[in-house]
Amino acid sequence: MSMERTLILLKPDAVQRGLSGKILARFEEKGLKIVGMKLMQMSQELAAQHYSAHKEKPFYKGLVSFMTSSPIVALALEGIGAIEICRKMMGATFGSKAEPGTIRGDFGVSNSFNLVHGSDSKEAADKELGLFFKPEELLEYNLAAFTWIYDPVEELGQQG
Ligand code: RTP
Ligand code: MG
Repeated sequence: MSMERTLILLKPDAVQRGLSGKILARFEEKGLKIVGMKLMQMSQELAAQHYSAHKEKPFYKGLVSFMTSSPIVALALEGIGAIEICRKMMGATFGSKAEPGTIRGDFGVSNSFNLVHGSDSKEAADKELGLFFKPEELLEYNLAAFTWIYDPVEELGQQG
């Protein structure tokens, strides 16, 4: 697995239900590094670009309407294998089916509101990060806990 960046959105229901902090804390506690973060309201244009893959789906209109209805928090998170890790943390698409322990499984039961979005591939992450963040809004810095989060197994092995 390599160092990756992924786009996470705390959707309107997460912000309106006062769950932004709790959900963000889960990603931080897991060890993901916040490299971009903003509260914003999605425009129709941005929603159309972000959800272009779903344009022909029956739920598209409702999805765009939901996502543009109220502010969201856009996050750029970085970590080794971050894309898959975040998807696992989110759980199945809707809270009614998502496993306990996942964000959707723990905080929701709705079959239309589902609290978070996460990029599902490297290609999607690159595209989506570009839609939500200007290059200068994505920061490069060292996380002090890095070497404690990613166990340096090989180095420990050499020492032992
Ligand atoms: P996301 O893209 O938001 O991370 O969620 P996902 O991969 O789990 O789900 P996806 O299939 O990509 O669908 C995108 C979003 O569309 C809404 N949706 N509604 N009514 C429906 O059947 C339906 N299916 C999907 C959800 O908001 C979903 O997150
Ligand atoms: Mg998706």
